[in-house]
Amino acid sequence: MQKLSIQGGAPLRGEVRISGAKNAALPIMCASLLAADTLQLSNVPELHDVATMRKLLEQMGVKACVRGSEMTLHGGQVDKPEAPYDMVKTMRASVLVLGPLVARAGCARVSLPGGCAIGSRPVDLHIKGLQAMGATISIEHGYIHAQAKKLKGARIFFGTVSVTGTENLMMAATLADGVTVLENAAREPEVVDLANCLRAMGANISGDGTDTITVAGVEELHGAAHRIMPDRIESGTFLVAAAATGGGITLTGTRADILETVLEKLCEAGAKISANADRIHLEMNGRPKSVNVRTAPYPAFPTDMQAQFMALNAVADGSAMVVETIFENRFMHVQELRRLGAQIAVEGNTCMVRGADHLDGAAVMATDLRASACLVIAGLVARGETVIDRIYHLDRGYEHIEAKLSQLGANIRRLK
Ligand code: UD1
Repeated sequence: MQKLSIQGGAPLRGEVRISGAKNAALPIMCASLLAADTLQLSNVPELHDVATMRKLLEQMGVKACVRGSEMTLHGGQVDKPEAPYDMVKTMRASVLVLGPLVARAGCARVSLPGGCAIGSRPVDLHIKGLQAMGATISIEHGYIHAQAKKLKGARIFFGTVSVTGTENLMMAATLADGVTVLENAAREPEVVDLANCLRAMGANISGDGTDTITVAGVEELHGAAHRIMPDRIESGTFLVAAAATGGGITLTGTRADILETVLEKLCEAGAKISANADRIHLEMNGRPKSVNVRTAPYPAFPTDMQAQFMALNAVADGSAMVVETIFENRFMHVQELRRLGAQIAVEGNTCMVRGADHLDGAAVMATDLRASACLVIAGLVARGETVIDRIYHLDRGYEHIEAKLSQLGANIRRLK
């Protein structure tokens, strides 16, 4: 199993290019199932999850071609509308094929994802939404079997805001008979990016980016070209790493407007930030100040940045409270941070972090994607060597992370 070795202490300095967003690329790739034509995507990140999604789509009959960050997906014929357990268990976003498959092929057999490290993560809202649109759904042998000759528009209220739930139903509704209204929908920028791509394919969608999305079904969708938006979580991760190490970096190919709460928190921690067009510059002098964080759906502070701020708070001046309101078990990085000397007390969904004046390198284990990013940041700050095991989690969501960090002056290498 591959590991990362980091010699901490070097402040990050320089410029780094941000990749396309994983959480936009995955649903948008699934949109290729909705049309018989070709979807041409650019700025697609080279990630394990993207490769897994491509494999899954190919198994169903989509023809895929990848050249660097360009990807062509041809949805010609969907012969096998099925997502097997082996794939869904490695990548929960596989459930995003469900809506498009029912809408276009009239049936789908998709494995239930089951629990995952950060919580139970049910898909009941995806299922209820499709049922409201007229699909017949049964759960047998761990699989969701869905059928509908033609989905019908419906008014659907999400009891809990769900990002992939919103995306699944928005895609399904594009080919339904009549109008679908999604209430208490997710407002995440990745939902808007998907809506932009679907509109380019001929879909009639409005209200994306607000909590009410309206989709008027059309007869069919056609091919389109779409550029994947920048990854706001990768952007935030590099900025936190620079702030925690007392460095100064410039991100290119990113967007500040979708990172507002994260940038506010970094300013509160003492960073100087300036942004224009597609660049963000951060400068940090000395030790960061502690910042309280409470996760909630967009536009509030993202759960996908919680672990990284835990690492920042672990070395900050003062004490901070970190509250996780989205997932019930997203503090697995805490135990690993403690191995480096972090002082963190956990009570339910709340952590009290007392900033230590230094961390000491140690062997740690990555437990999920963003927990891995947290450990990388802690390793960059800690004295001596930190070795992070199970970094396959990191490769699922960060493109060329050690190359990008090395370019910024980090002492980091992959142990094979
Ligand atoms: C997406 C992101 C993930 C991010 C998360 C929250 C992708 C591929 N993944 O995950 O990186 O951490 O949003 O911003 O975009 N829920 C239900 N029933 C459902 C669906 C969700 O109860 O049917 C609950 C979940 O357990 C969770 C909350 O809703 O407590 C939000 O989850 P959701 O937004 O669906 O997360 P994902 O879309 O899986």
